[in-house]
Amino acid sequence: MPISQSTIEEIRSSTDIVEVIGKVVRLMKKGKSYKGLCPFHSEKTPSFTVNSEKGLYYCFGCHKGGDAIKFVMEFFKYSYVEALEMLAEKSGIRIIQTTENIDLNEENEKLTYALNFVSNLFQTQLFESEEGKNASEYLYSRKLNDETIDNFKIGYSLKSWDGLIHAAEVEGISTELLLKIGLIKRKEDNTHYDTFRGRIMFPIHSTMGRIIGFGARKMYDDDPLGKYINSSDSVIYQKSKILYGLNYSKDGIRQKNYALLVEGYLDYLSLYQAGFKNVVASSGTALTNQQIQILARYTSVIYFVFDGDSAGSSAMVRGIDLILESGLDVRIIDLPSGNDPDQFIREKGSEEFTKLISNAISFIQFKANTLQKAGKFNSAEGKAEAVREIVNSIAKIKDPIKQAFFIREVAQKYDLYESTLNTVLEEITIQQRSERIRTEAHQFDTIPEDVNETLLTREENKIIPENIPIEEKELLSSMIENPKKICSFVFSHINLEEFTHPISITLAEILSHSSTEGEVISVNSIYSKVENEQLKLFLSELSAMQYQLSSDWDSIGSRLSEDRLLNVAFGAIKKMKVKKLEIERDKNQEQLKTSSLNKLDPSGYLNKHKELLQRIKNIQEMKLETRLN
Ligand code: UTP
Ligand code: MN
Repeated sequence: MPISQSTIEEIRSSTDIVEVIGKVVRLMKKGKSYKGLCPFHSEKTPSFTVNSEKGLYYCFGCHKGGDAIKFVMEFFKYSYVEALEMLAEKSGIRIIQTTENIDLNEENEKLTYALNFVSNLFQTQLFESEEGKNASEYLYSRKLNDETIDNFKIGYSLKSWDGLIHAAEVEGISTELLLKIGLIKRKEDNTHYDTFRGRIMFPIHSTMGRIIGFGARKMYDDDPLGKYINSSDSVIYQKSKILYGLNYSKDGIRQKNYALLVEGYLDYLSLYQAGFKNVVASSGTALTNQQIQILARYTSVIYFVFDGDSAGSSAMVRGIDLILESGLDVRIIDLPSGNDPDQFIREKGSEEFTKLISNAISFIQFKANTLQKAGKFNSAEGKAEAVREIVNSIAKIKDPIKQAFFIREVAQKYDLYESTLNTVLEEITIQQRSERIRTEAHQFDTIPEDVNETLLTREENKIIPENIPIEEKELLSSMIENPKKICSFVFSHINLEEFTHPISITLAEILSHSSTEGEVISVNSIYSKVENEQLKLFLSELSAMQYQLSSDWDSIGSRLSEDRLLNVAFGAIKKMKVKKLEIERDKNQEQLKTSSLNKLDPSGYLNKHKELLQRIKNIQEMKLETRLN
């Protein structure tokens, strides 16, 4: 259902990009712009910039950029129409539809439709089929109540091989589609069967709450597959990038400013139901870097909750180190042996769990405990090894102040000199750095894990305008910063032909045309009018640029005054003119060389050379005031 152009304009104008992005990225104000960690690639120092005034975002790291609509599409994997709908809802705009044809991103729409249909089917089967009774009774025996079952859309898949296939057929959902999201599988003879049979179905949601896959717990002993199986990775669901339940808990996490991280679906559900609404589960995978990056949008503190038995497993220790490496703080809730969070809540109640939270220990204490249990502290050698092990984790922390505090903690705990520990820390840091360099170098000759994403990034890389001279960017950037004041000044000093890159020529053309026509120009209006994706991205980059070009744009933070802008523009114009003359000079010198080699009279070239040098000098000495007066 296409949306009318006027509605789109209304949505555009009433959308605050900072509010939209701020919901999912922690943004820090820098002058009139905002900075934060880019949600599209993994990074530790912020290069993601949001320009509130111009309504555009841009990342200097991965070169993604655009307006609020584009952001919603990229971040939530929404279609254009869905993005508009979401933004409209936010600002209370009623969508007016037209018959105009707009790309619906049909594939995504269909997948979502199919997943919702299947989830509804599973929910119905849980309560309305004979077989489902077992499953619902099982859930009650696990102390989940109706509200939780309903809220989390828990369902049941029948023990049949083709129940889903048939139901989907009636609904007009194709087998191809079901295959794509792993709900059915193909046999060698090209017939199909249901993937999930006789299992309790937990829908997995995206951060925005769309169903993107399922986790499934087995119900019957004769089921030969694992206790839990998950939807296979698909275009919309990638295990390593999803935290189960985050869509329900993100507000809770923000409020409490820490996240409780558990392993299992039922652990999650029990904690949530017991009132711990800041919980997430890494379900079905060891904690990944991408998951940590996602959590980092909501909080910088993670409480790792471990089954009493898994504590000390290598996957877990790796998880702790990953969190430390990402610059987040980690605390550990070490459950009594034989307990998992779900059991603990059921048996001891939420008050006891609250106590566990307040007794959470540092990773140092945790590692020490684990090593103690392993008998490492019985000899001097063992102790030395254990301390080394702990310092290993401290070395992952980027913040030197935090490192210093943890070193002190270890020194006091084991009665060691801080200086000794610092020497060890330094050794390990050097060692880890060289390991990192080795593995990073190695990554270039192996196929990346996430081929899909890499292809996508590559695909998008193609549209990043390259080789645009920095002075042309500076000039255009100053123009779009204040078109009314700067454009006429610029075009009285420079011609369109003096821009060298097709994209900068195109933008200069638009600006020149609008300014001579006396139109009111804004980046926003240009952005929404142009079709060229490359130009759109270029506009986003320019809007973010003044915070990157620290040499000429050193007044970071404050709004650039008109004078500053004129200065920047003037400086850029000079650079462009000088560059052009320098190219001419070099060409002339070449000719001078050939002429003297051929024993021809060089005087013409020599004069030209002198003249060019003089012209370069004149331009370099030009002062803004003298030109303006
Ligand atoms: P657990 O075996 O600890 O299961 O696996 P659990 O959550 O306590 O399950 P219940 O209480 O018996 O129902 C923890 C998590 O590891 C993943 C699942 O995400 C599970 O919730 N897992 C486990 C699998 O993906 N496959 C398996 O075969 C087992
Ligand atoms: Mn359990």
